[in-house]
Amino acid sequence: MKQEIVFNLNGEAVRVEVEPEWTLLHFLREVYGLTGTKEGCGYGECGACTVIIDGKAINSCLYPVLEVAGKSVTTIEGLASKDGELHPLQKAFVEQGAVQCGFCIPGMIMSAKALLDEKEQPSEDDIKDSIAGNLCRCTGYVKIIDAIKTVAGGR
Ligand code: FES
Ligand code: FES
Repeated sequence: MKQEIVFNLNGEAVRVEVEPEWTLLHFLREVYGLTGTKEGCGYGECGACTVIIDGKAINSCLYPVLEVAGKSVTTIEGLASKDGELHPLQKAFVEQGAVQCGFCIPGMIMSAKALLDEKEQPSEDDIKDSIAGNLCRCTGYVKIIDAIKTVAGGR
């Protein structure tokens, strides 16, 4: 039976009815229509489904939607400003040529954002650790790390 939950999604309070067995990923993509968050493996291995919940990068494919009640969720759709100006991380990924097929990129960017929100000037190792759970089949990671570096402390 559906239950009502209230939480903050990309800066706005939402009140929705959800089935207890839904994951947050299912809710975001299939119910709420936010398809920027991707489903790769569906069991916590690839990071394509990464969103930020109360400041932490989380695999939404493993996260029960009921548990977001009262929390704050940010998805890739919540990064650009209302007038369409891209977030610095999004701009850096484009400018550094860090995107190939693009499937992993929303998750990569959310992991990187969680890191930069916590640590303004992370080391290269911090950056690598932050995306250790995000798999990319195309890029070889170098340009992704370069893109994050350009935002991290402006290097
Ligand atoms: S879809 Fe969630 S970790 Fe792969
Ligand atoms: S750009 Fe294709 S999986 Fe990363």
